[in-house]
Amino acid sequence: MPSKIKPTFPRRPYLSWVANPATTIRIRYSSTAKKADVIFYGNKLNLNQRLISNYGTQKEVNLSGLIPGTSYRYRIGQNGKLYSFRTSPRRVVPFSFVIYGDYSSGGNRRIKLRLYRRIPKEHPGFILFTGDLVPNGNNLGIWKNQFFAPVGGLSPYFPLVPTHGNHDGAGSLFNYYFRSPGRRRWDSFVYANAHFILLDTESNYSPGSPQYRFLVRTLQRSRAGWKLVCLHQPPYSTNRGHHSNLKVRAVLCPIFEKYGVNIVFSGHNHCYERTQPIYQNRVNLKSGVTYIATGGGGAALHPPVARNNLSAAEKKWISVRLKIHHYLSVRITGKKLIVTAKNSNGKIIDRLVKTRL
Ligand SMILES: [Fe+2]
Repeated sequence: MPSKIKPTFPRRPYLSWVANPATTIRIRYSSTAKKADVIFYGNKLNLNQRLISNYGTQKEVNLSGLIPGTSYRYRIGQNGKLYSFRTSPRRVVPFSFVIYGDYSSGGNRRIKLRLYRRIPKEHPGFILFTGDLVPNGNNLGIWKNQFFAPVGGLSPYFPLVPTHGNHDGAGSLFNYYFRSPGRRRWDSFVYANAHFILLDTESNYSPGSPQYRFLVRTLQRSRAGWKLVCLHQPPYSTNRGHHSNLKVRAVLCPIFEKYGVNIVFSGHNHCYERTQPIYQNRVNLKSGVTYIATGGGGAALHPPVARNNLSAAEKKWISVRLKIHHYLSVRITGKKLIVTAKNSNGKIIDRLVKTRL
């Protein structure tokens, strides 16, 4: 059951977007005293812009009218710590993001922190999570202790963009922190020349459902050069943690194929697994969708299924399968997309380069 205690924001600020990542940023945090704060911010050294926060202990400050592709700095109050963030470029300008998931189930906090410490070195515009941020998302204390406390070194600098996983709870706390309250748990946004679609494999996605219609409508209208999907349960996997989700494969993969999705990122399996490009269940280097399970964020690892136990079809589409803690740094430079998987020491464990016409 969801916690009866009223949720509060963490003490350290965390970032998300109000609407457009190119021109807005949302800063949320809680303060001990009931008062309004002055937020000093700007893209110049003297932080020449300011905004008064709402009154109370739960603060939500929405900065808008920002310049695309620009580094900003901000502080909360005259003597507050100086933080920074970067807005999305409006046009085709190179950018990076970090993506991975599965932090907590039987988790290793030391590994999780070691991965967190590496992330700023990638200079990501934001951090995407493939779900299962916490072991039980209905528990308020777990969000505070196992997600916001460890991620507190990153959250004031990089927008946190999670996908909902099966451990992330019934949705009220997840939505309180990462969506507008009561809103659906799926979402999308455009960042430079890439369209990101965050699906929720724990909600209904059957044909005709609101989520299904949202996916089709979003892809039909997308004019972005790159189309990237993030969801929790992988449709193609050969890991002993969980099998391929065949419903996701049957219902959603034909949509991904029809509308030219380039990569589908998932979590759920605590491993790194990348398929060959797949179209209609067969390897198709020209028209296929690549599926990457990136669930090595700190949870206890799952091994791959032994090769002898794979079906003939699986043997064809498997590519890289590693039982390893890791994160992905993805760089998009116009028509080239590079996925670099790194372990907790920063060593490269896989690299994928995709180009489009
Ligand atoms: Fe999961």
